[in-house]
Amino acid sequence: MNKIVQSNDFIKTKIDIKPEIGLILGSGLGDLADRIENPIKIKYEDIPGFPISTVEGHEGQLVFGKLSGKNVVAMQGRFHFYEGYDIKEVVLPVRVLIRLGIKSLIVTNAAGGVDKNFKPGDLMIIKDHINYTSQNPLIGKNYEELGPRFLDMSNPYDRKYIEIAKEEGGKLNLNIREGNYIWFTGPTYETAAEVKLSRILGANAVGMSTVPEVIVANHENVRVLGISCITNMAAGILDKPLNHEEVVETSQKVKKEFQQLVLNTLNRM
Ligand code: HPA
Repeated sequence: MNKIVQSNDFIKTKIDIKPEIGLILGSGLGDLADRIENPIKIKYEDIPGFPISTVEGHEGQLVFGKLSGKNVVAMQGRFHFYEGYDIKEVVLPVRVLIRLGIKSLIVTNAAGGVDKNFKPGDLMIIKDHINYTSQNPLIGKNYEELGPRFLDMSNPYDRKYIEIAKEEGGKLNLNIREGNYIWFTGPTYETAAEVKLSRILGANAVGMSTVPEVIVANHENVRVLGISCITNMAAGILDKPLNHEEVVETSQKVKKEFQQLVLNTLNRM
């Protein structure tokens, strides 16, 4: 709680707008922040109370400004649990953005396709998620002023936002998917058996992020839109090993469509 207040107080001295919508930009979507008008950029490392970035050459900053007609703040780079952060550190930036005023959050990520009908390059609107880790950012003392001890999670992704994103995807002629995202901690990719298990459990895509941030947004009543870029087929579906290069390559290939979908959707949020 101290860290949240500390970070918030610092950021407030640097900005003159109140952001209404937050964006967490996953792999391949980072440069969407470059389209923010009159940007104010604050490096994570300069924010007191923020986690210390462990990744070299990691572009970690908040970017405030106008995007698609809205006052936004984008997280260019996120903290993953597999990097060794405490789960509370992973979600601290989201707590801070909420304190700065955001009422909605767009969360994006790269994910493996579990659904055999998917193909690399597809975009999937997240309908629901499965937390397949034993991690939860709400474990520990609950701050009643932030949200309830026992949080309802029957609708973590805003129905109206899902409809808008699907409509906008249709207008852009994108083959938009909709499905369930399952969170594994990583950093290993899943085994073929784990992917099969995920499919049986009802997952359509698998990834190593997003769920902690979405839980915290829900805790504080922030409306969420989640979009996954299916960068590869998950393990065991195709007869080839997985690698990070493929993930990066696919997200680069579809980033124009991905960004346009986010921009058009954002405009109607
Ligand atoms: N598994 C988990 N995370 C991922 C994958 C995957 O196949 N692709 C991109 N992120």
